[in-house]
Amino acid sequence: MTDAAEDVRPLLRVRQVREFTDAPVDPAALDAVADAARWSGSSRNSQPWRFIVIREPATLRALAEAGLPQTRSLATARAAIAIALPTEPGRRVVHGYDEGRAAERMLIAASLLDLAAGIAWIRSEVRPAVAGLLGLPQDRFVRTVVAIGHPTDAARKPKSAPGEARLPREETVFSERWPG
Ligand SMILES: Cc1cc2nc3c(=O)[nH]c(=O)nc-3n(C[C@H](O)[C@H](O)[C@H](O)COP(=O)(O)O)c2cc1C
Repeated sequence: MTDAAEDVRPLLRVRQVREFTDAPVDPAALDAVADAARWSGSSRNSQPWRFIVIREPATLRALAEAGLPQTRSLATARAAIAIALPTEPGRRVVHGYDEGRAAERMLIAASLLDLAAGIAWIRSEVRPAVAGLLGLPQDRFVRTVVAIGHPTDAARKPKSAPGEARLPREETVFSERWPG
């Protein structure tokens, strides 16, 4: 592997984890993940997000129950960070873009800290229950909760055969023009 490819390998190791051990998450690590998120870039630097750091087991489990199956990772997560966005209808796409940037940063930060994380998507019909659990004001909603913890051995195992986790390079990366 070239040096450049080796340098970006920590990013390639970032994976979605949905099952966590009982080991607690260091509060300083959780703060570092939240800081990585709030330093994400956003459209016109509007920073539309607010991040709710959740450590209370009862809240984590209630979130898991509310949004199954997408929220199953929260059944074992020791912590989570919810992204609260404004409900402004005209800004939906741009806020979603910014939200994705922050969510991925949290997954990367967790991985760099030897933690693991996963995205739990809150379906629209589940959002009122989540708003109630998190005490959101009327003008905010949560679509993404990032589950955080230490991965179980099973969760650490590769989910696919070597080389099969992603489409092959030649099918996804093109030079100069669409091929054909
Ligand atoms: C927009 C978005 C929403 C996702 N929603 C969920 C979800 O609700 N629950 C879940 O367990 N995983 C969710 N995922 C994680 C994907 O399933 C995961 O990234 C994909 O399976 C690749 O897994 P890997 O990165 O571990 O290879 C979501 C990912 C994205 C980008």
